[in-house]
Amino acid sequence: MSRANLDKDPHEVAAMFDGVAAGYDRANSFMTFGFDRRWRTATARVLDARPGEKVLDLAAGTGVSTSEYARGGAWCLAADFSFGMLTSGKHRGVPMVAADALHLPFADNSFDAATISFGIRNFVDTKAALTEIARVVRPGGRLVICEVSTPAFGPIRFLYRKFILRAMTLVGRLTSSNPAAYGYLAESMLTWPDQRTLAEMIASSGWSDVEWLNLTFGAVAIHRATKPAEKAP
Ligand SMILES: C[S@@+](CC[C@H](N)C(=O)[O-])C[C@H]1O[C@@H](n2cnc3c(N)ncnc32)[C@H](O)[C@@H]1O
Repeated sequence: MSRANLDKDPHEVAAMFDGVAAGYDRANSFMTFGFDRRWRTATARVLDARPGEKVLDLAAGTGVSTSEYARGGAWCLAADFSFGMLTSGKHRGVPMVAADALHLPFADNSFDAATISFGIRNFVDTKAALTEIARVVRPGGRLVICEVSTPAFGPIRFLYRKFILRAMTLVGRLTSSNPAAYGYLAESMLTWPDQRTLAEMIASSGWSDVEWLNLTFGAVAIHRATKPAEKAP
């Protein structure tokens, strides 16, 4: 499988995640030095899913974040287009559905909130997915995205780009049977837009009140937005 193909073909992306699914959560925690847990907790806090709410966790992978969001009593659905990732998370006991972020199998205005953690940069068409998510979230509902981002402070940004991602690629090589997949993941981190650019993309895809919060010097950022209330006819 070539990385160039992965960039364009959703089937290749899904197949790649199928291939790394078994060891994914462990490798992820290892490569982020355990920081992933803090980022998920911070995302859960921003999402603030309440009892009685319906929450869509998109690109949920094994549902590792979904189970965290469900702890507060909300009904949280894990959706992902990799059967391998979903199957690896069966033990978590959260409802799961195979779905493509660009063609969601849900009615308009079905969810109180939608969230994506470390998945949006893999979407083939980011703006189309953000628009599709806006369709299935009710007016006044929330969007919360946790994703790798760009450290604001120059020297940290330099270290992050030059050394840490290379180290991650190396760790991926050592811990995974599919090093090309981890190379692709590291590359997708380097080419992903910064905080402001993503905020603008969200705002131009049917969302309002877009804000972001930097975590770990901006290596990761949480973006939050609201679907505008429907105007009276
Ligand atoms: C890096 S993993 C993140 C998984 C999980 N959210 C987490 O925080 O660990 C990215 C996930 O996005 C999924 N994904 C990528 N493109 C997708 C799409 N168009 N529709 C649904 N899932 C997608 C992949 O299958 C993969 O499970």
